[in-house]
Amino acid sequence: MNILVIGSGAREHSICWSLKKSSNCKKIFCIPGNGGISDIADCPNLEIKNKKKILDFCKKNKITFVIIGPEDFLADGLSDYLIRNKIKTFGPSKKASQLETSKSFAKLFLKNNNIPTAEYSYFSSISEAKRFLKKSIFPIVVKANGLASGKGVIICKNLKEANQAIDTIMKEKKFGESGNEIIIEEFLDGFEISYFVFVDKDSFLPLGYALDHKKAFNNDKGPNTGGMGCFTPSKKVNKKLEKKILDKVINKTISGLRKEKIDYRGILFFGLMINKNEPFVIEYNVRFGDPECQTLLRTLESDLLEILLATSSNQLSSIKIKKNYDSVICVVLAANGYPDSYEKNKLIENIEKAEKIEGIEIFHAGTKKLSNKIFSEGGRVLSITSKAKSLDIAREKAYDALRIINWEDGFFREDIGIKNY
Ligand code: AMP
Ligand code: GLY
Repeated sequence: MNILVIGSGAREHSICWSLKKSSNCKKIFCIPGNGGISDIADCPNLEIKNKKKILDFCKKNKITFVIIGPEDFLADGLSDYLIRNKIKTFGPSKKASQLETSKSFAKLFLKNNNIPTAEYSYFSSISEAKRFLKKSIFPIVVKANGLASGKGVIICKNLKEANQAIDTIMKEKKFGESGNEIIIEEFLDGFEISYFVFVDKDSFLPLGYALDHKKAFNNDKGPNTGGMGCFTPSKKVNKKLEKKILDKVINKTISGLRKEKIDYRGILFFGLMINKNEPFVIEYNVRFGDPECQTLLRTLESDLLEILLATSSNQLSSIKIKKNYDSVICVVLAANGYPDSYEKNKLIENIEKAEKIEGIEIFHAGTKKLSNKIFSEGGRVLSITSKAKSLDIAREKAYDALRIINWEDGFFREDIGIKNY
């Protein structure tokens, strides 16, 4: 079949790479794509926000399946629109996507279904939020209610920082309309894991988990980012903890979706904080994580296309997932300055040479290809994934690959997979 993938990140590159292995995959298109994706998919120049143009493109190119990567297209109802127009689509509806697009919706869902999460209050008025802070215990977490690319969360050590966070989000509107309302939330200590489950109307199927590194710099210093690297598995996630996650979080979420008549079809990403061996939901996301997707797809032995099609057709119950049990690590190479401003159009060399190391697969994010050369074009630029029999070997090889890549304008964390291994 002809398939269209929407997105331009390393996540979408890894999805295309995985789809390519399916015997049912004839041709892949990716809009907008990037310098790496264009080696395995056609990346036409199309007005991506225009749903009608996407539909016309699908019809013209006999595309029968669309896979939506990033959340903003789901929030915009692209999945609903394509399905209404008879194009099979992977990615939840606009209504179901509120689990990610509205923190207040997600918190209410968690509370209604008795799923462990941080205590919280919701505010649409600056003065009321500030009044609430006067009787709060610190640290406390202030969050923009809407989408903010993982950056709309401010952890505040004291009253002064919390008042400033409210001003940043609600007054200065650092995250635009997403900051019209906020959530103020209890601070949870522990370590975080990203857990992924395919969900359709009648069934669900866990894909696995990875541990992400959200802060920009070594030792969890610096600002929050979309994710600077991750790894799977972790010795800290034992069978007992996985059972708790299944019983207290996943099963309750699935029955909550049924009870609240939310027809969820797609992958559901549980952002969990593990505190004293107990899981708490920090957030839901309605898509694959980035860089978690790049990492987990390297453990998948089953046909990804078959799983995604079954999810979209409510046939997940007929699918079994086969995985390899190697360790995988992903290190993100980002442009100096990310997650704030950074320069673009810088030449990156030796990517192919680095890819020759056994077990290495490199996925592109913010890159473009000009005259067969790769140039930087975004904040997160490359995802270096490495698969091996142990995490130590995988890590060593990932960093060997990074040392081969020649790019003076980039940086990466040197401590991926060391903490919480
Ligand atoms: P979110 O966008 O809600 O996933 O938050 C982004 C990041 O902020 C999370 O991955 C955590 O590292 C941190 N965070 C969010 N909520 C809390 C919380 N209640 N306690 C501690 N850390 C949090
Ligand atoms: N890596 C976290 C996310 O994709 O939201």
